[in-house]
Amino acid sequence: MKQKIAAYIDEVSVFKADNLEQLEQFRLKFLGKKGIIPALFADFKKVPPEDRREMGQLINSLKQAVQKKIVTLKEELESSGDTTTTDLDLTLPSEAPLGSRHPLSVVRNEIIEIFSRIGFNISEGPEIEDDFHNFTALNFPEDHPARDMQDTFFIEKDPDIALRTHTSSVQVRVMEKSQPPIRTISPGRVFRNEAISARAHCIFHQVEGLYVDEDVSFADLKQTLFYFAKELFGENTRIRFRPSYFPFTEPSAEMDVSCNICGGKGCNICKYTGWVEILGCGMVDPNVLEACNIDNKKYTGFAFGMGIERITMLKYQINDLRLFFENDLRFLNQFRSAY
Ligand code: DAH
Repeated sequence: MKQKIAAYIDEVSVFKADNLEQLEQFRLKFLGKKGIIPALFADFKKVPPEDRREMGQLINSLKQAVQKKIVTLKEELESSGDTTTTDLDLTLPSEAPLGSRHPLSVVRNEIIEIFSRIGFNISEGPEIEDDFHNFTALNFPEDHPARDMQDTFFIEKDPDIALRTHTSSVQVRVMEKSQPPIRTISPGRVFRNEAISARAHCIFHQVEGLYVDEDVSFADLKQTLFYFAKELFGENTRIRFRPSYFPFTEPSAEMDVSCNICGGKGCNICKYTGWVEILGCGMVDPNVLEACNIDNKKYTGFAFGMGIERITMLKYQINDLRLFFENDLRFLNQFRSAY
């Protein structure tokens, strides 16, 4: 029996099939119900106990050799064009591209990561806002032209309900619900009635930041944002502040970073100034703290807000904002990131 099996193993190893039909005959000869291998297993019962182990292993290796042969020959025959059974290869890997994160998500996650390292948590608020949270609590006086700074999409009038024009509305919601110390950032989508162009869109994304505690000063604001700019744009980044105006901060400023493309020497991205503006910021106006029931004698705070599209454009030298919304795979495939 041992020799018989050894001979079969040799036979299997040299076997070749010209077509799938011959291969099927081969399969039946060995593995079919009345085939060689079932017959060997039947004979196995008669093998004396001391030889069983060796014999069992031999029969099994024959069986494996047959199965392996069938798989290999089948693959060879099918790839050489003899596809009498099926021309679908279900084992082929899929051609669908692997997904990747949208560049705006990549940068948003990076911003979140940078601020979470210094103790900021994340808060969110609704995209449909009332007048109080989007304007009034943020010290926009009723009928004041400052409300025109932001072209609002109104949903209802009296009481006014609108799509939020900025994520600053979330700082109001956070302060209403909690007392200092507050350290939070609020990423989200905002809406403004603007004509769509390479530099503007009616939907875009912002990250708002808020820090309220005892003795928070403008120096804290500067150091926090300096740390942020270096983390995001690189160690050699410099920052500068220009005085500005926002109803909800006093004093207010806009922050520029040294151009990360030319290192401050001047190029077309920074319009040959060496600086690019990335955010608005300031000390939270005491009126805002009061509107949110926070003791403005005891606490001070700073806030800042930035556009994610703008930062992403600077970081990756993207010159048309519309690319973010077109979902063109040739654009999206260029962004692969750990974030
Ligand atoms: N909300 C402002 C905007 O949409 C951005 C901003 C500026 C937010 C200054 C702030 C801030 O918190 O302090 O243009």
